[in-house]
Amino acid sequence: MKLAVIIPAAGIGQRFGGHLPKQYVVLGSLPIIVHTLNTVLALADLHCVVVAKNPADIYLDRVLDEHGIADSRLGIVDGGEQRADSVRAALAHPSVSDADVVLVHDAVRPLASASLFYRIAQATRPGQVVIPGIPISDTLKVVDQEQVVRTIDRSTVRAVQTPQGFLPETLRSLYQASTDGVTDEAMLAERMGIPVTVIPGEPWNIKITTPSDHALASILIGHPELAKNVSVE
Ligand code: C5P
Repeated sequence: MKLAVIIPAAGIGQRFGGHLPKQYVVLGSLPIIVHTLNTVLALADLHCVVVAKNPADIYLDRVLDEHGIADSRLGIVDGGEQRADSVRAALAHPSVSDADVVLVHDAVRPLASASLFYRIAQATRPGQVVIPGIPISDTLKVVDQEQVVRTIDRSTVRAVQTPQGFLPETLRSLYQASTDGVTDEAMLAERMGIPVTVIPGEPWNIKITTPSDHALASILIGHPELAKNVSVE
């Protein structure tokens, strides 16, 4: 199976603060995006990986160079204003059309395991989208300003992660539509009535959005045995 991986990495990390976009912040001893790329470039069936960077980005080339990442399967495109614009730009890269399955994975989820990529890819079928999700243990409330409106039955919701899996033609057809307000590719499928299947994600596959996510990821990256022992249920 030929895998294409699209990595949106064009965000400027406003919620993270600081001058450095969060994908370049060091985690353990390597920039976050280097962890992500190392996992992806080691996937056995990798056909290509396309990174969407910010057009004003001055860091990516330097980081790739400093960490010895030179691979003919790696393509780089300019991303756009929204995450979906970045994914659309990467999807247009010619190498993606030769793949059997396309996986879209956030640059800022450096702890996703290779096995999660394979599980998503193997479950992806024509006309269907596959995403990783985990149950929520907190009680969830709908709020209006600071007033609680109601409580959601948490057994009916999942926290959804990446990588998300598609056939190239499915993803291309999803991106024909408007992407206003879209925060992941599965949302486009939902709008079009294309089935989206959730398989177990990984609790440690956190999206590094805030400094507290970074602190937690710093602990997890130093202790891979913690991740292996955590059950999804
Ligand atoms: O902003 P958010 O945390 O949802 O970003 C998720 C991923 O999408 C990050 O890897 C970020 O770099 C990427 N992104 C992008 N283009 C944008 C905004 C975010 O590629 N315009």
